[in-house]
Amino acid sequence: MAQEDVFKKLVAHCKEYGFVFQSSEIYDGLGAVYDYGQYGVELKNNIKKYWWDSMVLLHENVVGIDTSIFMHPAVWKASGHVDAFNDPLIDNKDSKKRYRADVLIEELMAKYDAKADKEVEKAAKRFGENFDEALFRQTNPRVLENLNKKEEIHARFVKALNNNDLDELKQIIVDNEVVCPVSGTKNWTDVRQFNLMFSTEMGSTADGALKIYLRPETAQGIFVNFLNVQKTGRMKIPFGIAQIGKAFRNEIVARQFIFRMREFEQMEMQFFVAPGEELQWFEKWKETRMKWHRALGMGDSKYRFHDHDKLAHYANAATDIEFEMPFGFKEVEGIHSRTNFDLSQHQQHSGKRITYFDAEKNESYVPYVVETSIGIDRMFLSIMAAAYHEEEVEAKEGAKEMRVVLKLPPVLAPVKLAVLPLVKKDGLPELARSIIDTLKFDFNCQYDEKDSIGKRYRRQDAIGTPFCVTVDHQSVHDNSVTIRYRDTMEQERVNISALQRIIAEKVSMRELFKKTM
Ligand code: GAP
Repeated sequence: MAQEDVFKKLVAHCKEYGFVFQSSEIYDGLGAVYDYGQYGVELKNNIKKYWWDSMVLLHENVVGIDTSIFMHPAVWKASGHVDAFNDPLIDNKDSKKRYRADVLIEELMAKYDAKADKEVEKAAKRFGENFDEALFRQTNPRVLENLNKKEEIHARFVKALNNNDLDELKQIIVDNEVVCPVSGTKNWTDVRQFNLMFSTEMGSTADGALKIYLRPETAQGIFVNFLNVQKTGRMKIPFGIAQIGKAFRNEIVARQFIFRMREFEQMEMQFFVAPGEELQWFEKWKETRMKWHRALGMGDSKYRFHDHDKLAHYANAATDIEFEMPFGFKEVEGIHSRTNFDLSQHQQHSGKRITYFDAEKNESYVPYVVETSIGIDRMFLSIMAAAYHEEEVEAKEGAKEMRVVLKLPPVLAPVKLAVLPLVKKDGLPELARSIIDTLKFDFNCQYDEKDSIGKRYRRQDAIGTPFCVTVDHQSVHDNSVTIRYRDTMEQERVNISALQRIIAEKVSMRELFKKTM
């Protein structure tokens, strides 16, 4: 199935099974704003717990806080967001559609990559086992032509970004004959900068009201609380402050479902270090964060690092962890070495001294910062995309049917266990409920007695429930039940008393954490 179709199906599945809904849907929705449904919120909470505990429980030098969305407007002046939190945008004069110029160019480069990959794929099929991919990539004229073209655009793109050269960004689009996907024309406006912050007013009287912003990142709440946390927690450098919270950006191009939203959630950690030690910590956090992602077992090859083409003026290193979404490798997390820019700026703009006295070095300094910043919604999307499977399975009398199954990591699954009485009589519902009454303290359980057992299995597969327990007539006599495993569909007869242990082993955060070490 084409990846675009997979993505469409995934979006439809998220809605049909209560994971994600369009915001204000009965009023035709609000662009790039989404609500999480009854299963979505459970998955999201499990992701947050995995992140929070791995940061705050497992690192004795990382503590958590929760700061407000509204902050003093001076924060955003100091951080540079008022002047420079911009995207370069371009309009097509015929369709009146607006695009991010940098995204159009990135998509153009991705097309050349895809063309080269296609040549390689074709050749691999033709030559079979004897195919030497590396040699083919180095020597095949069509592959080289596509890769050289991409490299040429890339070099111009990086230079234009670094020089903030908006005319050159437009020229790259014009020279490469990029067309608007809606009108099909090349009739472009100039490229302009567009600030992404939402603003509102605080206060009751029109002239006394203060213009404030909805935070576009959670990080600034951490920076302005650096001294509070360091002093009250008697924290010694190196140490980190973690936070989970909402962020808001008036994204121009808000497409691809929950990948790019106007209201989204971040999990950020600022790690404060001594000047000169930041690059070493940057490497350490890169490795730690990649292990955290891979521990979920969705396939190591689905992740890669992508170093930034353009470093922000305050950063001395930056990379993204990208995940292979149905629409290509995309950023899920950013890891940035932000020098002492933010704390120095807040020191200057607030007039308050923001330094740390390092007793070991016997000196005071403004700490340097390594930041890890991950979007929960993108993480959610990556997990759903990797989990979504359509499989042909045996139905009655040798027929085949399609099952849609979410092979979610069991530890993150919204519902861990469904308990299903085979029939609605003979004491089976009562026994099923008594199993839930024992296990509900440990796991999110669901009771279902409606429809055939096959249909009930399919419903649980579709929401990713890793275990189904069926209670039948034999269960009433000998306390045994059938446990069915989601991924293999294998079934096993076990005693009710064994259920807690069997399930706990598979859904344990503890086991997952061990893999992150
Ligand atoms: N404090 C640093 C910072 O905010 P960023 O790269 O702009 O860095 C970090 O954002 C992460 O937040 C991204 O890797 C992405 O996962 C998520 N994110 C950013 N903009 C988003 C949006 N419009 N919708 C959903 N997630 C977004």
